[in-house]
Amino acid sequence: MLSSSSPHGHRPPPAAPRPYAHAGPAAKALAAPLPSLLSPGVARDPYRHYRLLREDFPLVRDEPLGAWLLSRYADVRAALADARLGAEPSAPGPDCRGLLEPALRAAAERTAYVLARRMAGRREADLVADFTAWLPAAAAVAALGLPWEDAVRAQEWCRTGSAHPGAPHPELAALLHPHVVRRRSHPGTDLLSALCGGRADGQALSDDAVTGLACTLLTGGGEATALALASFLANLLDHPAQLDLVRARPWLIPGAWAESLRRDPPAPVVLRRATAPIALGGTTLPAGAVVACLVGSAGRDPYRFADPDRYDIFRADPAHLAFGAGPHYCPATALAGLAAECGLRALLDAMPGLRWAPGFRSAPRGLMTRAPRRLLVRPC
Ligand code: HEM
Repeated sequence: MLSSSSPHGHRPPPAAPRPYAHAGPAAKALAAPLPSLLSPGVARDPYRHYRLLREDFPLVRDEPLGAWLLSRYADVRAALADARLGAEPSAPGPDCRGLLEPALRAAAERTAYVLARRMAGRREADLVADFTAWLPAAAAVAALGLPWEDAVRAQEWCRTGSAHPGAPHPELAALLHPHVVRRRSHPGTDLLSALCGGRADGQALSDDAVTGLACTLLTGGGEATALALASFLANLLDHPAQLDLVRARPWLIPGAWAESLRRDPPAPVVLRRATAPIALGGTTLPAGAVVACLVGSAGRDPYRFADPDRYDIFRADPAHLAFGAGPHYCPATALAGLAAECGLRALLDAMPGLRWAPGFRSAPRGLMTRAPRRLLVRPC
């Protein structure tokens, strides 16, 4: 039973799951039936709903969503790591982190500075439209040594989330193929050439492996990184004292980034499917049942994080689940962190007095993916 390992020690054991129609004690206390995650209004402020779920419905069927909801930190963590709950299959690529990270760092630094300087002279700018939506895809395009125009297309594919973490996008694979062929005969100094000359497990990387890696870089996680970056900047701009600290002491950036991922994960709902009947929280879910692991709720669980709604870069109780847990844990946490670090440094360097545009308040939106879609700032 997933919840048997719950650290919610001083709580009574989680009650058996209650379908929405069930008139259990908590259901009776509600003025109306428990809303679905898809109900109007929930996406505007899912955290109120998450609180209710954590307290009274730790495992519950959400019929309109077609999934069982898990909302407590310990249960979400255990479910993500449970081999009986399968994830979408992802094509495992060769491990080339030694090649990817230095090339991406250099490209992310350059790209972030170009994007930040373009905004610096203006009276007002939107950090989403002008910066966060571009940085992950444009940095990958620059690292691979592809033409800049391809950043536009890569950014579009990132936005449609075509490949996180699924198979390579066919159009993108077709676009990349001639570049791979050319690098084989005329290698340059870019990452695509390095991958063409790369080896994994003693074997030269095939064209398919190189294309797959390039596709993963261009689209896999680009959207998640862009959204996470938007929430990160919003959290810091909402807390100017903490922003000042990060500006003065850049070694605080990784903690500030992790704290933003805990509080405002870009993918707050991670889906799993039971590969066989599975006993959870006192009931048995049939094979094929979909379980929605509410990572966004887990990050606000007061039994795991003190004062969980507060953004605090000095938090002493980290270990968020925004990158998952267990066998499918995101392999690109360092790459995402690079975008955050290079992005923030470039912005603060180009615009030391960066602050919200007068009267602007950021508003995160979305349920399955969540972040502010506009960040209006005065770039001084
Ligand atoms: C802030 C940015 C990111 C976040 C929040 C994030 C989040 C996640 C999460 C939650 C999972 C686990 C999914 C599951 O358990 O079903 C995952 C897996 C994965 N992510 Fe990311 N990701 C990010 C950036 C990236 C980037 C930049 C890449 C690639 C360049 C990437 C590639 C992958 C891949 C390939 C998997 C599948 C791993 C597997 O199934 O074994 N991610 N990510």
